[in-house]
Amino acid sequence: MVGDNSFVVVANRLPVDLVYGQWVPSPGGLVAALEPVLQAHHGCWVGWPGVVDAAMEPFHDRNVLLHPVPLDQQDYEQFYEGFSNATLWPLFHDLIVPPVYDQSWWETYRSVNEKFATEVAAVAADNATVWVQDYQLLLVPGLLREMRPDLTIGFFLHIPFPSPDLFRQLPWRAELIAGLHGADLVGFQRSRDEENFRAIVDADITTGTFPISIDPSTFGPVEQEIVAKLREQLGSPHTVLLGVDRLDYTKGILQRLTALEELYDEGQVHDVTFIQIATPSRERIDHYQQTRSAVEEAVGRINGRFGEIGRPVVHYYHRQMQKAQLRNYYAAADIMLVTPFKDGMNLVAKEYVACHPEGNGALVLSEFAGAAVELHKAHLCNPFDTESIKSAILDAISAQGSEAARTTMQELNQQVNDFTVARWAETFLNELNATRSRAGKENA
Ligand code: ADP
Ligand code: F6P
Repeated sequence: MVGDNSFVVVANRLPVDLVYGQWVPSPGGLVAALEPVLQAHHGCWVGWPGVVDAAMEPFHDRNVLLHPVPLDQQDYEQFYEGFSNATLWPLFHDLIVPPVYDQSWWETYRSVNEKFATEVAAVAADNATVWVQDYQLLLVPGLLREMRPDLTIGFFLHIPFPSPDLFRQLPWRAELIAGLHGADLVGFQRSRDEENFRAIVDADITTGTFPISIDPSTFGPVEQEIVAKLREQLGSPHTVLLGVDRLDYTKGILQRLTALEELYDEGQVHDVTFIQIATPSRERIDHYQQTRSAVEEAVGRINGRFGEIGRPVVHYYHRQMQKAQLRNYYAAADIMLVTPFKDGMNLVAKEYVACHPEGNGALVLSEFAGAAVELHKAHLCNPFDTESIKSAILDAISAQGSEAARTTMQELNQQVNDFTVARWAETFLNELNATRSRAGKENA
């Protein structure tokens, strides 16, 4: 029996999570990017509803049909927290923390991938297009290909692909590569990721580079009064710095706090306020807990050393925010700090740029974020080098209000408006169809 959905996206998470009985938007860039694409295609989305043991019927969320895949406690611990986020995540982010290699986690990863593939095989129509997302589901293309040879299968990796020497550490590397061989097209964020992958696979797998983006129309300009009020609430500082991230050790949050502390210590900045918005993420994993403790300790120390009554230097929020509220922060910030050690793309950088069509504001951006390829005119920095972060911040402060700074931000804004997430999806899906037709002709 086949289903009746001609376009199916499968990702670890659904675009909404069930939290204490209420549906809330899921965290992360994957969902932020794909949601408008699915809305436009009236597609079907197969994924986990974010809570353990939630067996539920498919339902519609605006234009999208959501097919929940239930995960039990063992799946959560060994597939999600374990193999996905304590093995693959650190390995694919260049060992910022050491990956754990555990046979039972691997076995659960394989069985959960089978669960996802079985669900997709049941809902996809004859000859449907299935688009598999990210590192949690690397085996799904191969499993699906066996179950449903009629399907056109694309795969997109949202995170970096590591260099061959790092990838070879993985005891199950051959199985993962075999899984990806089931896809007609495998897409990456940067050409470097694609090259790393190509260095370890046969020539017969089709790959491409497709940098993901945002829907800039949802990040338009914000009313001046709202911006003015927010800055007034902050005590009308000369410069407002902003960071917006999942609280993840890859994002370099502590490093930007250290840079700010040193700038204050050395008397190089005055009257600078930093807002750090950190979404809770993967909270039971050791390295996430350690990162949170280190960040919160630094926030307390900096405010203790340099804050004044009613005027902390750092405003720290450990919570999910509404998109509209986030947009106000983006619009009010003079300088956005995006300093990951490694990041597939980093949509926050693009969202900030989209909120500054008039050319005010500045972006300090890690050279190790995928976004640095397109947004190379930003103030680039090396997050492993505190001096480099400090000088990028100082450069951005000293350029504030200049014509050169305005021109740069307008160019960045143009880039984000030209290369939207709709264009990303269209380019990938066109290439996927073309690859499938070429293969069909060769086999005819
Ligand atoms: P990642 O996918 O690693 O989380 P990205 O920067 O690519 O990183 O995407 C993060 C997404 O999550 C963005 O769309 C951003 O707006 C959103 N986001 C981050 N922090 C928050 C928050 N505290 N509240 C709401 N949305 C957030
Ligand atoms: O974009 C990277 C990514 O890991 C997505 O695959 C994921 O949905 C998102 O970040 C948030 O992470 P999580 O699903 O573990 O909360």
